[in-house]
Amino acid sequence: EEKEEETCSFTVPNYACQRRTQLHHHNPSLSDALTLLAENAELNEDDGRAVAFRRAAAVLKALPAEVTSVSQLKGLPCLGEHSLRVIKDVLKDGSCSEVETTKHSQRFNALKVLTGIFGVGVKTADRWIRDGIFNLQQLRESQTTLNRAQQAGLDHYEDLNQPVTRADADSITEIVQEAVSSLFPGAQVTLTGGFRRGKMTGHDVDFLLTHPEEGREEGLMDKVVSWLDSQGLLLYQKTSRNSYLESRDGPGRPSSNMDRFERCFAIFKLSRGQTSPPAGHQWRAVRVDLVVTPISQFAFALLGWTGSKLFERELRRWAGHEKAMSLSSHALFDKTQVINTLFREINMWNCSNHTRSPVSEAIPE
Ligand code: GTP
Ligand code: MN
Ligand code: MN
Repeated sequence: EEKEEETCSFTVPNYACQRRTQLHHHNPSLSDALTLLAENAELNEDDGRAVAFRRAAAVLKALPAEVTSVSQLKGLPCLGEHSLRVIKDVLKDGSCSEVETTKHSQRFNALKVLTGIFGVGVKTADRWIRDGIFNLQQLRESQTTLNRAQQAGLDHYEDLNQPVTRADADSITEIVQEAVSSLFPGAQVTLTGGFRRGKMTGHDVDFLLTHPEEGREEGLMDKVVSWLDSQGLLLYQKTSRNSYLESRDGPGRPSSNMDRFERCFAIFKLSRGQTSPPAGHQWRAVRVDLVVTPISQFAFALLGWTGSKLFERELRRWAGHEKAMSLSSHALFDKTQVINTLFREINMWNCSNHTRSPVSEAIPE
């Protein structure tokens, strides 16, 4: 009697942005294991490995049912040898030794705690660990010099590591809305980030600010920030200018995923009534990101700031590889059009100089 061959029971598109992914899914123990390894890779600045684990976790989150055997995963995209090994272990033993070892390692835990301080990145955390600083107490006792952001991060560590609730987000939306509409009638406030994706909690609250008339958004950030400050609502803020037009590589050619909108990293002070402060406290600190965009770039900014990080990354990869387009938080370009425009410009220049024959257009329009 022939055994029925087990075939892949699931199909999943190649890019995370092509999949429907729900908040609650069928394989949390598998995706948690892979996410922890992704996190560890990020903390050790191994971005290639981090993205590989994030992609693998995303595939598992998109599956329509619980996985019971690795054979069900045959043919699915983004599942490399390493990820499959982890999945196999978890399916067999309920855990994976690599994940458990990492989870309990001193370095992983120290990096997590230290980078959990607002303003502290992996490079700084790694330096502190080499100096023998593994936790907040050791950092506080050491004579380490902190910058303004890190000092605020350390001062409000407990609050900032408490999840922000949807109710907190709504209450901050009201505050920002009030500030914006009293200072700039007509200007718009849009809640974005994880809360726009329907998450019930987040690590911060993200907003896009714009004005329906192009150019009228100028000056908005400074005014809003001063107003919030005058109301005693800010524990910390750092505003950076829009550098989109003046940047070296010019509009539409961002050198990294970071955009060039005017933005403000802030820590809000929410009092009772606006939030539920921890027991015995009158207020709590909450991280808020404000971003100002001209209306002409608003759609791209909204798409770029809604997240998740992996979704955004996959959307850009899909645009580039499958559609020959270039997507950023500022614009969407057809790369073939850009190349043709360049050729046309070179030809015009060459012809006007009468030195060389025209360059032919490589890509037909
Ligand atoms: P939680 O805040 O943890 O709930 O998750 P989140 O998805 O809201 O993450 P976060 O607030 O870090 O970022 C929100 C979205 O904005 C993510 O998709 C990021 O990719 C994006 N984002 C964050 N910083 C930048 C930036 O400097 N430029 C651009 N273009 N996007 C950014
Ligand atoms: Mn967020
Ligand atoms: Mn944010």
